[in-house]
Amino acid sequence: MARILLVDDEPSILSVLCTVLRAEDYQVTTAATGQQAIDLIKSEDFDLLISDIRMSPVNGMDILKVVHQERPDVAVIMLTAYGSVETAIEALKLGAFDYVTKPFKVDELLITVQRALAYRNAITENATLKEQLQTRYQFDNIIAESPSMKNVCDMIRRVAPTDTTVLIYGHSGTGKELIAKAIHAYSLRSKKNFLPVNCAALPEPLLESEMFGHVKGAFTGAIADKEGLFEAAHGGTIFLDEIGSMPLSIQGKLLRVLQEKEVRRVGSNKTVAVNARVLAATNVRLEKLIEEGLFREDLFYRISVIPIEIAPLHERREDILPLVYHVIKKETPEGAEFPALNADVCSLLENYTWPGNVRELENAIKHAMTFAKDNRITREVLPPKIAATPIDVNPDGEGGERFDATRGRSLKAFLREQEKKYLSQVLQFTGGDKERAAKTLRISLATLYRKLPEEQN
Ligand SMILES: Nc1ncnc2c1ncn2[C@@H]1O[C@H](COP(=O)(O)OP(=O)(O)OP(=O)(O)O)[C@@H](O)[C@H]1O
Ligand SMILES: [Mg+2]
Repeated sequence: MARILLVDDEPSILSVLCTVLRAEDYQVTTAATGQQAIDLIKSEDFDLLISDIRMSPVNGMDILKVVHQERPDVAVIMLTAYGSVETAIEALKLGAFDYVTKPFKVDELLITVQRALAYRNAITENATLKEQLQTRYQFDNIIAESPSMKNVCDMIRRVAPTDTTVLIYGHSGTGKELIAKAIHAYSLRSKKNFLPVNCAALPEPLLESEMFGHVKGAFTGAIADKEGLFEAAHGGTIFLDEIGSMPLSIQGKLLRVLQEKEVRRVGSNKTVAVNARVLAATNVRLEKLIEEGLFREDLFYRISVIPIEIAPLHERREDILPLVYHVIKKETPEGAEFPALNADVCSLLENYTWPGNVRELENAIKHAMTFAKDNRITREVLPPKIAATPIDVNPDGEGGERFDATRGRSLKAFLREQEKKYLSQVLQFTGGDKERAAKTLRISLATLYRKLPEEQN
């Protein structure tokens, strides 16, 4: 809960503002004089100061100077009477976040308060914030047990309140759209639209009109004016999914929209101002597409201000069972008993390669729940592809090696053989990409080369 210090020498304003802010669940402390405010700032912790400028003998600017020197991480909003905007601008120069002119609309003030607090959270890296991040990793619907997913959640929390463009990279089914939605949901735009557009699903002219709109008669079939998603997402977020598939001509137009913050509907020569936050996702490396001449480098820099990378599920096995339980919970009807999982099933699920990532896991569990006997999930009710995974060749070497076959050999020979098997499995996962394989194995590329049989080098 954000702590706000409210300062005004007019008791009526103090009391109205205090009621409004408390109704929004802020923790509010009030001060009726400038001196009282300065004493409080020196002795207590606040996130935000809202102060009248004109007071006597200690005025708002005096308070601001103290904050500036002693508590630079406190955000400040100044209240100014109509006509004294110059002082307000002075206040901005001294580090105030914003000012609001009296008489003000409550909604307007509340939005400024939200923005000031969000801005403060995004830029401060103080100990409290870090602690909070550590204990509040969990979003309601995002499972994040692995360090890499915790890191993703950490990034969501940081970037959500800003208006920065975010590029989400991850293989298919890793949760790109889920992450994009979370960024929107935790942003100040959450009450406005979140509009996804799949850049791979539409042919070029349709995609262009979908994104930017068109006017009547712009092309055959354009029987009426149509608003594009950029306009429809005004105040909200537009999610450009599979942006790597966007044709080059549209990339150029998108770049212009991002630079100029205005769109021109197809067939029109009028521009319309747009205020949509852009999030994008891709399952191919855009750097690679740039090399191949399929993606504009200038656009890449503009959209990848903050990159977020989601690891494939087999690289974050800690998430697997929590995800399984998450799906079971979602799929079990209210009041019904959760199905039980056999131990060998758990180990199978943890060791399977999940090429389709979380989406495949969801489908597998739904499948298993449909076919479960006596409310028990056994290997037999898993999709055949997963059930057929032999546990004894699992990469981590857990869950039932066939010791008979290896009896009589030295430990070293046994380990070498297992290592070879595992290396080739990992290389298979990565489609022969050695750099990625080395990352998965948490060894250096040089070590990987050393360990590989000649023919794979
Ligand atoms: N960490 C997670 N916690 C809970 N559910 C998740 C998580 N990651 C993914 N999911 C779920 O998995 C499914 C696939 O996620 P999503 O559609 O976001 O993936 P995607 O990367 O956009 O996939 P695609 O590349 O196929 O478009 C969704 O139902 C989503 O809710
Ligand atoms: Mg998707």
